[in-house]
Amino acid sequence: MSNPRRHLLELAPLDATELLHLLDLAESFQDISQRRIKKVPALRGMTVVLLFLEASTRTRTSFELAAKRLSADTLSITGGTSSVVKGETLLDTARNLEAMSPDIIVLRHRHSGSPHLLSRHIDASIVNAGDGGHEHPTQGLLDALTIRQHKRRIEGLKVAIIGDIAHSRVARSNIVCLNRLGAEVVVCGPPTMLPPDIESLGCRATSDRADAVQDADVVMMLRIQKERMTEELFPTDREYAMRFGLDRAALRMAKPDALVMHPGPINRGVEISPEVADGPQSIILDQVANGIAVRMAVLFHCAGGGAQA
Ligand code: CP
Repeated sequence: MSNPRRHLLELAPLDATELLHLLDLAESFQDISQRRIKKVPALRGMTVVLLFLEASTRTRTSFELAAKRLSADTLSITGGTSSVVKGETLLDTARNLEAMSPDIIVLRHRHSGSPHLLSRHIDASIVNAGDGGHEHPTQGLLDALTIRQHKRRIEGLKVAIIGDIAHSRVARSNIVCLNRLGAEVVVCGPPTMLPPDIESLGCRATSDRADAVQDADVVMMLRIQKERMTEELFPTDREYAMRFGLDRAALRMAKPDALVMHPGPINRGVEISPEVADGPQSIILDQVANGIAVRMAVLFHCAGGGAQA
């Protein structure tokens, strides 16, 4: 039987077995990036379109490297250089790309649900590279992989996610993924940045930084997403940093071997101090490195490779 079309639209529908399958697959791809010739023929002859209609550094480049390391042909389209600026709709853009027979379209878009829309109308596999404030599934997977590699487990860990939870697709993907893999997830931010229904995803919410950080195994800091705000949600960056930022003193409340994470881009001195971002407990650049292996796994899976997750 031929494989059904596979997408990765969000982590919410995946169970622990499916999540672990993708993490294990990513781990199996990791050594390719350490070789002198960083290429395997797994996706030779396939075409991956990177349709990034919202800004990105890490996600776009690591998807491109991931596709190239699997020997796929890649086509990169960004917002400013596409005909979207001339008024073309997302669906028309995707239908025109589809006429060129891509196998996978990786989409980043400012509107929640955009990848789901494409998956209903386009024949190619669709991978969500971040849709508005909804989900960022490959970020959730790479964060879980990075935690697992440093702590040798995820189950039973206390993970504090601190920042602009309301606008964060990274928070949503991490909450569902880490909760499903057995972590205790606590989210923290100003009351204006904590959606009332957030605990239904499988976390506890607090506006008390000490409560979140106390005895945490992992402290994940998030950027304030001013570009998604329609009103001021906190008085000043300085006040925010004092109450919700992570500096050395705040980090001392966590376990001594706590990991410091951040999906990037960082606003130094706002949500995280430079000495913590660059300090010995920071694994921020490990997250970036793991992004390639995770995206190789996701592309390989969506192309029909490996067991059904
Ligand atoms: N973490 C993340 O999504 O970063 P970019 O916006 O640079 O892709």
